[in-house]
Amino acid sequence: MAKPPAFVCSACGALHTKWSGRCDACGEWNTITEDVPISTGPATGLGAKRGARIQLSDLSTDEAPPPRTASGMAELDRVLGGGLVPASAVLVGGDPGIGKSTLLLQAAASFARAGLKAIYVSGEEASAQVRMRAQRLGLTDAPVKLAAETNLRDILTMLEAEKPALAIIDSIQTMWSDQVGSAPGSVSQVRAAAHELTSFAKRHGVAVILVGHVTKEGTIAGPRVVEHMVDTVLYFEGERGHQFRILRAVKNRFGPAEEIGVFEMTGGGLAEVANPSALFLSDREDPAPGSVVFAGIEGTRPVLCEFQALVAPSPHSQARRSTVGWDGGRLAMILAVLEARCAIPFAGLDVYLNVAGGLRISEPAADLAVALALLSAREDISVPPQTVVFGEISLSGALRPVSQTENRLKEAQKLGFSAAIAPARSKLSGDAGLSVRKYKDLTELVGDLFGAG
Ligand code: TYD
Ligand code: MG
Repeated sequence: MAKPPAFVCSACGALHTKWSGRCDACGEWNTITEDVPISTGPATGLGAKRGARIQLSDLSTDEAPPPRTASGMAELDRVLGGGLVPASAVLVGGDPGIGKSTLLLQAAASFARAGLKAIYVSGEEASAQVRMRAQRLGLTDAPVKLAAETNLRDILTMLEAEKPALAIIDSIQTMWSDQVGSAPGSVSQVRAAAHELTSFAKRHGVAVILVGHVTKEGTIAGPRVVEHMVDTVLYFEGERGHQFRILRAVKNRFGPAEEIGVFEMTGGGLAEVANPSALFLSDREDPAPGSVVFAGIEGTRPVLCEFQALVAPSPHSQARRSTVGWDGGRLAMILAVLEARCAIPFAGLDVYLNVAGGLRISEPAADLAVALALLSAREDISVPPQTVVFGEISLSGALRPVSQTENRLKEAQKLGFSAAIAPARSKLSGDAGLSVRKYKDLTELVGDLFGAG
């Protein structure tokens, strides 16, 4: 009998008997992964095995929403959507060394102090190492139970006997199931372990938090399918050399996605940052050309941050476009709009754009702040002092109003700003507390602020 195909191309689904770098069915590279196929008979019709009859139910319910447990770490609770939901599965991804184990040990202690029975399973460190870390973090008195184990079967047996309310698995890449032949960390192992643990969570009413390492490409090592299996996916991010760490919800079945929690890595572990705006603007110098304060919204909360641009003649034939914390494609679009609609060329000029403090901004509402930072750097003219900026730019150069104008202005006022630059048609009810300058398009704004255009 021929060997059954055990490899599958994740792009086209073609089956292969052996691994190769390129799928000869569709021509894609690096898409073939090990996959043990399930034997299937006909699902319906003649000869099919009949399944059990499924009970249907209505959409209406008398059940109260599941009681959440708040850890008391406000930044973590917000990202979880208000606390931990029982029997839910959470994946926390992040680069090695970013602080995942630190965060989750602190979370385990907080949940344990809030009354949940919590078990922390480390597959990466010995119990003594975890205990040393707990000592450093001042958590030794928290009623958290520890295990250093990688054998999935043993872990599940232990969890079944102990019946905790929360189990933390650090990390999913170190877990090893004896039912899968491949090595720990391989795609099939990660997938099998994640599947076993999430279905265990549902069956036994245990909330599980899985730690996942992120690959160079920025996704959680192992298959993307782990992200589909769990209820909530959080990413723990931060720039090397910065103390700030951001916990970001990218998927949440029980709360808003795109919510962020801000932490600071200190000698005694992660400290919560209750007022991120103040932190991101804390080491701001006097208004300089190229620096613009953006009034943004991260999740449900307004956050102010600073865009910095540098525009300089390029010594190279191909000018550089470099950006940190903001999408490169969006930068190119804004440069093109400035060239086409305002006749301000950037050809032959190197352009650098940073978000200060290591924050990553993806809101289109930051377009106007980016454009102003670029113009201000190019013309060497500072934007008016004590001013925040927000607005989306369309390809025609028109400024589009953005959501939550009032929240943005309120936060700016709270931090001592006195003026704002915003799109015309921004919705404002009553007194904003700041003087708001409104513009309908970029040309009008450039003429007013830079005397050109
Ligand atoms: P860790 O939680 O081990 O990261 P991960 O689990 O994501 O790989 O954190 C490792 C880094 O955090 C390490 O470089 C040291 C630093 N750290 C502190 O700065 N302060 C602390 O209190 C602790 C525990 C770690
Ligand atoms: Mg770790």
